[in-house]
Amino acid sequence: MGYEAMLKHVLAGLVIFAATTGCTRKTPVAAPSESSDDSHRAQVAMTGDILIGEYGSMTGGEATFGLSTHEGVMMAIDETNEAGGVKGRRLKVIALDNQGKPDEAAAVVTRLITENKVVAVLGEVASGRTLAAAPIAQQHKIPMISPSSTNPQVTEVGDYIFRVCFIDPFQGTAMAKFAHEKLSAKKVAILRDVKSDYSVGLATFFAKTFRQMGGEIVIDQSYQSGEKDFKAQLTQIRSKKPDAIFIPGYYTEVGLIAQQAKQLGIKAPLLGGDGWDSEKLYQIGKDAINGQYFSSHYTTESTDSVVQDFIKNYKAKYGKVPDGLAALGYDAAKVLVSAMERAAELTPKNIRDEIARTKDFAGVTGRITIDGKRNAVKPAVVVKVDGTVNRYVTTITP
Ligand code: PHE
Repeated sequence: MGYEAMLKHVLAGLVIFAATTGCTRKTPVAAPSESSDDSHRAQVAMTGDILIGEYGSMTGGEATFGLSTHEGVMMAIDETNEAGGVKGRRLKVIALDNQGKPDEAAAVVTRLITENKVVAVLGEVASGRTLAAAPIAQQHKIPMISPSSTNPQVTEVGDYIFRVCFIDPFQGTAMAKFAHEKLSAKKVAILRDVKSDYSVGLATFFAKTFRQMGGEIVIDQSYQSGEKDFKAQLTQIRSKKPDAIFIPGYYTEVGLIAQQAKQLGIKAPLLGGDGWDSEKLYQIGKDAINGQYFSSHYTTESTDSVVQDFIKNYKAKYGKVPDGLAALGYDAAKVLVSAMERAAELTPKNIRDEIARTKDFAGVTGRITIDGKRNAVKPAVVVKVDGTVNRYVTTITP
């Protein structure tokens, strides 16, 4: 299926869903009435389709995050259903768009849990939106697995909140090491998005390790997602003559920043984190983004058969190469399915306990073992942008 077709497919799903439950959205949510809520969910848990909620940015400046993740999730769910489902029952995903807004993320997760009675929730990508919605899942004791939110605070929300990716203290260290060891950078500038929990955290973790390694942060500038003109900050940065610039943002702003840095004659390499991962990065940044580096969760150039099979099947289904979000969405859904298969009964509590026991799960993004803090400890890869392809450079292990 082409991208356009897929988009229509996703949107059609959302529209059908909105048509059946849309009107109640603005109703204030009453405190969960434990008994009726639980008995309904218990009933749902025993018969019919197994309902799984998903929330993501299907529209807005980070739309590729939600759309790619959804494709990965649906591939895992379709594979499971084709193989007979879980305990002989089909899985059904209800995916809702939060337009990239934290308050919308909280609203749609409330809906998924209180109205749709899902037994588990997958999402979000951006840490700020997961942080906005996770307290709701925790309060209702519905397990949530974030495929890709890397800010450490996400799983600290409570014992029902998990993730299948590494966290930013590690990702920041990985890029600091890369800058120091592979690029021999001594002076680095930082340009962070102060509206994003992810960006602020990653910038801070990077700076800490880079300084510990003897490097210097010569300037620390900021912007706010949604902005389009970064010339003032870049001019300041240029005056400090850094060896590299660390920009832990999301692809839309990063693409524009790369363009404007080039226009200002900045030659220092640009470095970033997983938030760069999008087919749109090159469309927006064009040749200004070529040759720049970012840390990521997986590489399409891996020779691992799990990775190559995934890419082959994904291409057959969607007609394009999966990005890291798709791979993590697939892994998150598979970890959930595996926990459901092991659970004695499909209650949120049983599912939670089995997710917590996940050990050595062979994911596309590496082996997944959920640790005592409900995180996954995994290596990161550094890739170099080369047109629409991200070339593998090196692996950094925890
Ligand atoms: N790690 C980012 C965050 O926490 C989200 C992200 C993951 C974006 C992977 C792109 C790829 O906000």
